Amino acid sequence: MRKTLLGMSKNQTMARVVKRLGPFLGTRRFVPGERIEDAIYRIKELNAQGIMATVDHLGEFVTSHAEAEAATEQALLTLKALHASGTESYLSVKLTQLGLDLDERFCEQNMRRILDEARKLGRFVRIDIEDYARNEKTLSLFERLIQDYGHETIGLALQSYLYKTEGDLKRLSVFRPNIRFVKGAYQESKDVAFPDKKDVDQNYIRLVEQHLLSGHYAAIATHDLAIIETLKRFIDQHGIPRTQFEFQMLYGIRSQSLLELARQGYRARVYIPYGEDWYGYYMRRLAERPENVMFIVKSWFKR
Ligand code: FDA
Repeated sequence: MRKTLLGMSKNQTMARVVKRLGPFLGTRRFVPGERIEDAIYRIKELNAQGIMATVDHLGEFVTSHAEAEAATEQALLTLKALHASGTESYLSVKLTQLGLDLDERFCEQNMRRILDEARKLGRFVRIDIEDYARNEKTLSLFERLIQDYGHETIGLALQSYLYKTEGDLKRLSVFRPNIRFVKGAYQESKDVAFPDKKDVDQNYIRLVEQHLLSGHYAAIATHDLAIIETLKRFIDQHGIPRTQFEFQMLYGIRSQSLLELARQGYRARVYIPYGEDWYGYYMRRLAERPENVMFIVKSWFKR
């Protein structure tokens, strides 16, 4: 089921058909709305409960320069709107949305426009990490950008399911990067990624521990409560300050657990996607937990 859903997540014809069915698919569980106002409304509620946000204007794998330019404009508008709202929030972006597959230099120019604005406003921007085929390009671009903008303005996400991530973390260490650690959401071959979940989980813990011991900032992005407890113990044992890390979860998943972490005095942030292009994101959320498909089917019968 996971493989089928992830395969479907990249199918454009399927995307067109399924997008028409949005209201019937329970998309609101994972995506609060299509407008930035919908996201900001939710952020204000979350901020009032001690939870910060990172906002993603949905979209990925664009196929024309015009689409990438429109996505860049939208990212700039999102940044400005977040700033104007005065909320505790920053921006997350995907490089394929800014044209990475079309032309790397063009994508870099788009990203630099976003980072110039972010620096001006004093906001942070994180690059989401996409599939393995784009991994190396993303890392090289990140290396160039962090040299110019610094770790206060730009951060990256890294995936514990990839064998290469441990080496990448060492390679990036010189920049004292702010890294979001995730397990990884794409369908990858066992030539490049651990096929066994146990290894992905162990690598996750190892990577975060190494990063924290190096004194760099970590966004611990997982809904895995066992991993969270393990890392909390590690953090206590090593006297890691609470200002050096935060917990992150996706909008609509394990919200109570994130709230509990915030109540315990940990920094906590929710990843909020908004926009019309929700298909790929939504399908990856279903793939992570195929029970979600049953949940949606059952909700149809309750209508
Ligand atoms: P795991 O999959 O083991 O799940 C642990 C438990 O959480 C499950 O047993 C279930 O109870 C619950 N859960 C997890 N997913 C669920 C779902 N979809 N619906 C309902 N319950 C669910 N990936 C990527 O490749 N690049 C990226 O940039 C990002 N960015 C990102 C940001 C943030 C803030 C988060 C939390 C995650 C990402 N991800 C990501 C996604 C990540 O790679 C991974 O696919 C999911 O977080 C699921 O993995 P967990 O770590 O939660 O563990």
